[in-house]
Amino acid sequence: MAASRTRVAVLVSGRGSNMAALIEAAKAPGYPAEIALVVSNRPDAGALKTAADAGIETAVIDHKAFGSKADFEAAVAERIEAADITLICLAGFMRVLSASFVERFAGRIVNIHPSLLPSYKGLDTHERALADGVRLHGCSVHIVSAELDAGPIVMQAAVPVLSDDTPQTLAARVLRSEHVIYPRALAALADGSARLVDGKVLFDTQAAPAEPLIWPTIG
Ligand code: GAR
Repeated sequence: MAASRTRVAVLVSGRGSNMAALIEAAKAPGYPAEIALVVSNRPDAGALKTAADAGIETAVIDHKAFGSKADFEAAVAERIEAADITLICLAGFMRVLSASFVERFAGRIVNIHPSLLPSYKGLDTHERALADGVRLHGCSVHIVSAELDAGPIVMQAAVPVLSDDTPQTLAARVLRSEHVIYPRALAALADGSARLVDGKVLFDTQAAPAEPLIWPTIG
């Protein structure tokens, strides 16, 4: 009998390319998680059609329909609990979750953020990286804590910043790396090879590349 897979809800607000990467990865027979539910706070999110086309249950919980953030979050939490979800993946979910929501699902909410945290928390990460002239930028998968973009980091990917990059070209390069690490990080959390211990994420095994990532290369 196949081992049971970790049931995952993905929370989205927009186009959902990270959600699509998770859905695609979860099609593999050995993948340890299944995307059981997609929740959008926006009725017009492109992610909803992608998820429905993949046969995944979707729910729209429009934050504008609620009188308070607490009421909105209570509706989201109830929908997630009704679907017997173990892990929640935020994938371009553009509402900041309250401390009480985070506490309700402590250690079970994962986010992808388009920067090498702890640099560039918040919005406009690519613009700020370009303004600072950093040579390496990237993305981070982290466990969500009450403080915005500050929870334990699970996995990161670094990409070069090119001299002719615009926020759009840099965002596209980072996004491709997001699609690589989010499914890997979710798999590691779902199969237990990555675990939250004393506020840090520990991996069972790690194989570090021999060479550092150096950019720019010269000559
Ligand atoms: C992604 O780049 C994700 O990292 C970012 O929004 C984009 C969503 O794209 N998330 C945040 O900025 C969270 N603060 P997607 O809908 O195509 O996955």
